[in-house]
Amino acid sequence: MAGRIPQNFIDDLIGRSDIVEVINARVPLKRKGKEFSACCPFHNEKTPSFTVSEAKQFYYCFGCHAKGNVIGFLMDYEHLSYIDTIESLAADAHVDVPHEDSGFTNKNQEDKQPLYDILKQASELFQKQLKTSERAVDYLKQRGLSGEIAKQFKIGYAPDGWNFLSGNLGKSQDKLKSLIKTGLVVSKDDGKTYDRFRDRIIFPITDQRGRIIGFGGRVLDKGEPKYLNSPENAVFHKGYELYGLYETKQALRKIDRIIVVEGYMDVVALAQNGINYAVASLGTATTTEQIQKTFRTTHEIVFCYDGDNAGKKAAWRALENTLTVIRDGMIAKFLFLPEKEDPDTMVRKEGKAAFEDRIKNATTLSDFLFDNLKSESDINTNEGKAQLASKANSLIQKMHNSLFKDLLIEELSTLVGLSQQHLESKISSATDEKRTPPKTVESVRGQQVQNNKTRIAIALLLQNPDLAAHHKVPDNFKQAFTKGLPLLHELQKTIESNKQLSAAALLERFRDSEHEKALNILSMLQTPETENTDNIVEVYKSLIERLHNEDRDEYFKHKIQNNEPLTDEEQKEYIDLCTK
Ligand code: CTP
Ligand code: MN
Repeated sequence: MAGRIPQNFIDDLIGRSDIVEVINARVPLKRKGKEFSACCPFHNEKTPSFTVSEAKQFYYCFGCHAKGNVIGFLMDYEHLSYIDTIESLAADAHVDVPHEDSGFTNKNQEDKQPLYDILKQASELFQKQLKTSERAVDYLKQRGLSGEIAKQFKIGYAPDGWNFLSGNLGKSQDKLKSLIKTGLVVSKDDGKTYDRFRDRIIFPITDQRGRIIGFGGRVLDKGEPKYLNSPENAVFHKGYELYGLYETKQALRKIDRIIVVEGYMDVVALAQNGINYAVASLGTATTTEQIQKTFRTTHEIVFCYDGDNAGKKAAWRALENTLTVIRDGMIAKFLFLPEKEDPDTMVRKEGKAAFEDRIKNATTLSDFLFDNLKSESDINTNEGKAQLASKANSLIQKMHNSLFKDLLIEELSTLVGLSQQHLESKISSATDEKRTPPKTVESVRGQQVQNNKTRIAIALLLQNPDLAAHHKVPDNFKQAFTKGLPLLHELQKTIESNKQLSAAALLERFRDSEHEKALNILSMLQTPETENTDNIVEVYKSLIERLHNEDRDEYFKHKIQNNEPLTDEEQKEYIDLCTK
C-alpha cells in the first residue's frame, strides 16, 4: 500500500473541484434559485428531489436522504473506493496524488505497472487460446455458457504444456521476472521455470478499476486440484477482492443488491441467466474487507451458500463479519440452497424468476442469528437462556452503535426475559470506550429530533467555518453536560488548526469518525438560523453564549446536588451568578 495521502492535499482538491460541475457531467442539473436540482440518481423518482448547493458544495436528496460532498458523491455514484475517488478527482485537476512516506512510496506504485501489463497480456493470450481449443469451448458450452458471457468475463484457456506463457511473453529477462512475480510462471531451485496454469479454463480476476490482478483456473476433466488460483502478490490480495464486482458495476448503474456466492462458476452462470449482480469471495471465508467493499457498492447483500454444513459455517462467519461493519440503512440476508445444489446448478435448473424468488425470501440477518443461537441452547431453562444471552452479547458488542443494534438487543431481551437496560449494561461493560462514545449528537438520531441549540450551533459552524474566527467556542465548556458540546469544540479546534478550510473539506475530516453520520445530517440542516445569512455572526455568537451559560448552570446544579465541593474560584462565580 502506498503511504497516506496528506490531508491538506485532500482539502485543496475539494477546494479546486466544483461539485456542481462534477455532478452535472453525470446527472444534468437544473438551476433552481440558489440551488441546482435533478431527479435523484440514487433512487427512482419522477419529480426531482435531489439538490446540489453550489455555496456549500454539498448535495442532498429530500427523497432518499443521500447526502455528502464531492468525494461522497463520486464514491457512491461511480462505486469507487475512497482512494480511487481522490485519484480520479486529482486526474481531472491534472495533479499527482502525493503520498506521505511510509516505506511504500510512489516507487512501489511504479513497480506494479509491469505486473498489470503482463497480466493483461496473459489474459489476452488465454482468451485467444480459448477460441482455438474445441475441448475448452465444448466444456464451457456443456456448462451452459454462451460465447457472449465468456467474452464478458474474459474467460480463457491455458493450454497444456510447461512453457506456453514464458515462451510467448517472457522473452526478455524483465518480462520473465514480472511473470514470476505474478505467480503465472513458477521458478524452480535449479533456475528453470514452468507455467502455473496448464490445461485449465481461466477466470481472470479484476480489481475495482478493471485491471486484471490474478486468475483462477479450473480443470476440464476430473483432476486435482479442481481450482488453482494465482498466489498472493504485489497486486493480488485475495481477502480484499471479489470476483465479479467490477463486471457487476459495469453492467448496472443502480445496484439494488449483490449476491455473494462461493464460486467463479456461480457468478458466471448467474450472469448467463440474467442475474448480473453476483460476486464471489475467492476461495476463502468472506472477509470484513470484502463485505465493506460490497456495502460501498450496494446497500443490500444476500449471502448465498450451499445448504450443507460447510455452507452454514461459511454463512455464520459471514454473519460475524457483517455485524462488525453493518450500519443503519444496510441490509444483510442469507439464502440457503437445498442440499447438493449451488447457485450454478440451481439457476440452470429453475431459471431467473424462481431464483430471484429465493433471493426475495432470503432469511434476514436477525432471524439467522437468533434461530441459530436458539438451536444451540435450551431456552426453556435459565442456564440455556444465560448461555444464549452471553453468546449473543459477544456478537452484538462488536457492532457499531445503530438502531439495528438496539433492535437486536430488544429482541434478545424478549427472548431471554432480561431487561434491555440490563443487557445493555453487560454489553457496554465489555465494550471498549471507542465503541460507546460519550453522549454526543451521534446519539441524537434522525432528523425528526428537535433542532436544539447545540445542533443549530454545530450546523452553523460546519456550514460556515469562518464563524470560528468570529466567535470562538470557549474551551471551558469543560463539563459538557449538554450533548454535542465536545463535538462543537472539536470542530472549532479543527478549523483553527487548518485556516481556510472549506465546509466540504471540514466535513471530509470527519469521514469514518464516530461523528460522520451526525455531521452529514447537520451539514444540510436548514433552519431559520442557517438560512438567514445577514446576521449570521450575531446569531451564532448569541447561541454559543447561551449554550455556555446553560452548560455552566448544569455544572453547578450537578455539583451542588451531589454535594461536591466547589473551588474558590467557582465559589465566587457561583455567588456572582446567584446575586446577579
Ligand atoms: N476453490 C478454490 N480452490 C479449490 C476449490 C475451490 O479456490 N481447490 C474456490 C473457487 O473459487 C471455486 C469455489 O471455491 O469457484 C467453489 O468451489 P467448489 O464448491 O468446489 O466449486 P464447485 O461448485 O464444485 O465448482 P464447479 O461448479 O466448477 O464444479
Ligand atoms: Mn458448482
